[in-house]
Amino acid sequence: MRTQNGRAMKTKSSSTKTGSPRTRKLRAGKNSPVRGAQTNAVHAGEGNKHGIGVGVGTPIARTSTFTFSSTAEMKLWAEGKSKAYIYTRYGNPTLAIAEQKIAALEGAEAAVVTASGMAAISSALLGALKCGDELISTAQLYGGTYRLMRDVFGDLGIKVHHVGTDLAGIDELVNSRTRVLYVESPTNPTVRLVDVAKAAQFAKKHNLVSIIDNTFATPVLQQPIKLGYDMVVHSATKALAGHSDVIAGVAVGDKKWMERVQHMVIYLGGSMDPEAAYLLNRGIKTLGLRVRKQCENAMAVAKFLEKHPKVARVFYPGLPSHPDYKLAKRQMRGFGSMLAFDLKGGLPAARRVCDRVQLFLLAASLGGVESLVVLPIYTSHYNMTAEELTRAGVSPGMVRVSIGIEDSEDLIADLQQALA
Ligand SMILES: Cc1ncc(COP(=O)(O)O)c(C=O)c1O
Repeated sequence: MRTQNGRAMKTKSSSTKTGSPRTRKLRAGKNSPVRGAQTNAVHAGEGNKHGIGVGVGTPIARTSTFTFSSTAEMKLWAEGKSKAYIYTRYGNPTLAIAEQKIAALEGAEAAVVTASGMAAISSALLGALKCGDELISTAQLYGGTYRLMRDVFGDLGIKVHHVGTDLAGIDELVNSRTRVLYVESPTNPTVRLVDVAKAAQFAKKHNLVSIIDNTFATPVLQQPIKLGYDMVVHSATKALAGHSDVIAGVAVGDKKWMERVQHMVIYLGGSMDPEAAYLLNRGIKTLGLRVRKQCENAMAVAKFLEKHPKVARVFYPGLPSHPDYKLAKRQMRGFGSMLAFDLKGGLPAARRVCDRVQLFLLAASLGGVESLVVLPIYTSHYNMTAEELTRAGVSPGMVRVSIGIEDSEDLIADLQQALA
């Protein structure tokens, strides 16, 4: 592979010092002053705004390309000696602000924002894997990630092994070709947890690249980088942006890994649009407030559902009945905004509830200010065999709920009438 400059890129096993000008510009979240998470969400990456006539709002650099004052400066850029922005696929000031905010929130050196969560996931994985490598992943995953591994990675010569969220049997799967351990915690849609510290230690012991999808937890509730993960990925479409108005993703980690991700983003083209970065920056500022309210609401809704006579089972890690309750208490700072439930009446009863809600919206996605219900078999987990669904823990009648910031009494009243 060659860079745009025509210089040969080093192979994956070698150092990544050949970063493009964009990758050299990745700013360190770790170097931001040590401040609280909410302060970082508001102020990280914003630059000095003190003075007269300085705009308080986060600016948007709505441009595809950037000028140079001379060919001499262009030459410096081509030689990797200039930090100038050249073209938004390589970098843009509005994207850089989001990257600094998210790196600071995750306690990481750097971040790379992408056009979607899937762009972040595929760029992180392809940045770490090559033909002939093997990947171990939890079987309980967002369906898109699972299908990427199932339908694309095989053709690329990358073998995928799946384990349960308890990682049982993982020792037997590791061999000299194993390169990556990929986990999601909590999982979509079953809200099961992986012992994230244990998984990171396992990866370290076997010299694997550890990657975790932190979308459901958000950095407010869990910061895997601090536990030793190499990379964290997010669908920033969800809680980070938080308002159901943008598709976005981000990968987070140290500079070495982020340079690799950035290369993949530049060449595969999964770069974020500045308008999306603007919305993401705006959303991130209220992340902490939203997540705390969502956790409160989700607990109230979970407790209500657990007592309802038509509900067979509620999956919410904040309920003592959840198999990962103790783990959730130990490794998360809150139980999150996501829950799922099975109805005694199976799929027909689940469809009836979803068709009858009036305040909840029947829509895919999650993490926004609006509460949503969805049937995973028709959305995130479509195109999966019965065996794959069982392995993922998804029953045909499972309803997944994303809790928003509305008043919990209204959410409960809506579910009450829909279940009647
Ligand atoms: C946990 C998780 N990861 C990744 C994704 C993919 O994100 P995007 O839709 O932004 O590409 C999703 C989407 O639902 C998700 O739920």
